Amino acid sequence: MRRNLVIGNWKMHGDIQRNQLLLEKIVDGLRELNHADYVVCVPNIYIFQARALLENTNIAWGGQNVNQFEEGAFTGAIAPHMLTDLGCTYVILGHSERRNLFFETNLTAAARFDAAIRAGLTPVFCVGETLEEHEAGLTEVIVASQMDAVMATLSDADFAKAMAVNMVFAYEPVWAIGTGKTATPQQAQSVHQFIRHRIARRNPDAAAKVRIIYGGSVKAHNAADLFAMPDVDGGLIGGASLLADEFIAICQAANSVASSTCLMELT
Ligand code: 13P
Repeated sequence: MRRNLVIGNWKMHGDIQRNQLLLEKIVDGLRELNHADYVVCVPNIYIFQARALLENTNIAWGGQNVNQFEEGAFTGAIAPHMLTDLGCTYVILGHSERRNLFFETNLTAAARFDAAIRAGLTPVFCVGETLEEHEAGLTEVIVASQMDAVMATLSDADFAKAMAVNMVFAYEPVWAIGTGKTATPQQAQSVHQFIRHRIARRNPDAAAKVRIIYGGSVKAHNAADLFAMPDVDGGLIGGASLLADEFIAICQAANSVASSTCLMELT
């Protein structure tokens, strides 16, 4: 049984005052939701603040990217141990905005994945096709190439390490990000199933355990239907993670889908 996971990706939003209000409301709203896992990935400069407000709650915090090197002359970069130093447990990697706006490649993303698991961080590795690729019927080809960039570079020992830190995959169709156009639950399910099969080729046990979350215009009104799909294990939330009520409602959907599955398994 996989627990649902909801991750808020704040992207480049926030300031000290707004963060505090948002985090206080979220802490309050999620306090009783014990059937899923919750994370917020804030801009690096606010990780200190997130730690202060989220310590001893059921919400974890993480980074939105990390460099593959441990230290050195890399102006503006953050090393994996810096994230763990501040209590981060998760890091988003290979986000389409990093790929498209900052020219990060599959190779960079794979190197960062490796560096993250070595530091004990849980990587949330994003894959997804653009609108043109989608319309050309290339979704599975693109997703496979992005996944293989990671899978092919992992030795068996590193694969085991990735499982030990509970690696996560996020399917984020680029055409659904920030556009208000969500993949239908069936579209998401089909790609998530494809991702799980791809992992199964490497290790069937791992495939059954890995959480694959969906991102792209997830809102309070569509979250429950997405999370009800058998291979959709939660969501990676952009815009709606900045609105306390929306984010809490999405987390409630993840929490209740998870608990109803628990009940079904018990009966
Ligand atoms: P939106 O939820 O704003 O579409 O963003 C999704 C995303 O990119 C999360 O990483």
